[in-house]
Amino acid sequence: MTESYSVHIANLATDLTVAADTTVLKAAQAAGHPYPYGCQVGRCGACKSRLLAGEVELLPHTPFALTAADRERGFVLACRAQPRSDCSIAWLGSDTAGHPLREVSGRVVSLQRPTPDVSLLQITLEGEPLAFSAGQFAELSFAGCPPRNYSMANEPGEPLLEFHIRHVEGGATSSHVAARLREGDGVLLRGPMGDAHLRARRTGLIVAVAGGTGLAPILSILHRAARLQLQQPIRLYNAARSAESLYRENAIAELASRLTDFVYQPVLGDGLGAHLEALDGLQNATAYVAGSPGLVDFAVAAMTSRGLDPAHAYADAFFTASDQADADLSGVSVPASS
Ligand code: FES
Repeated sequence: MTESYSVHIANLATDLTVAADTTVLKAAQAAGHPYPYGCQVGRCGACKSRLLAGEVELLPHTPFALTAADRERGFVLACRAQPRSDCSIAWLGSDTAGHPLREVSGRVVSLQRPTPDVSLLQITLEGEPLAFSAGQFAELSFAGCPPRNYSMANEPGEPLLEFHIRHVEGGATSSHVAARLREGDGVLLRGPMGDAHLRARRTGLIVAVAGGTGLAPILSILHRAARLQLQQPIRLYNAARSAESLYRENAIAELASRLTDFVYQPVLGDGLGAHLEALDGLQNATAYVAGSPGLVDFAVAAMTSRGLDPAHAYADAFFTASDQADADLSGVSVPASS
């Protein structure tokens, strides 16, 4: 029988019973606690936490999400941490978005296909508009489909939520959206979630990198930046396979007319590295990156190698269900540092 341990979540002053083969994040979610998270597979750092007491085993993760120095200082990733003793843990809450997690019914009011493999949905919710920070995401459940996470593309506070859903070959939910979803269909939303949201108080260059439907959270961030009249330079790199894969160019043009110092660079094929290597002023920059795990890893590595502080790189990697199932499950033991 699998051993279980008591894990104290200091932010909530509550105790969880967590099995040794379960991560702290999964147990917190199962108990309905609003533990911050993003990718859930050790790539983004959104669930970075301090291990206050006890010992956990850390499943594999990227150095971007948690460096060796972080581990030595007693930080862990809740989505990768399985308890090996009774523990006490606290998430790093200084810059979390802090919106209440809601589960609410809604309805599809508009459905467009701007490219053959992208669906653009607008959804209305029952009751109050969803409070969220630009760049966050929500879990959407359509009838008969497994829930999936998608980012809001609109500015917070608007009555309709916009989502961009790419058709993934063999993906149950995205195939349903591409082939069978109709305007008027119901949807259940759970959110908001995610830590890769706009840090409006940061000054200095903003670099936004989108790949495919990673454009959705980036658009939300830029809409918000325009609303707040942020004055710093903003550079948007929008990576796509071909010119035909670019979409929502009208929204980007509208943003360009509202932002003070904005340059938009569509990037076709594999030219992203050359553009990022030409960037100056990354020492004080804030980067927002959204797209496939490969694009996120590549863009963040390219910018940190040119001086970007990884603490100011906010990444939203779009994982398919098979990406998550493929996550390797061997790891290292981390005791709490004293
Ligand atoms: S690293 Fe844990 S949620 Fe992304």
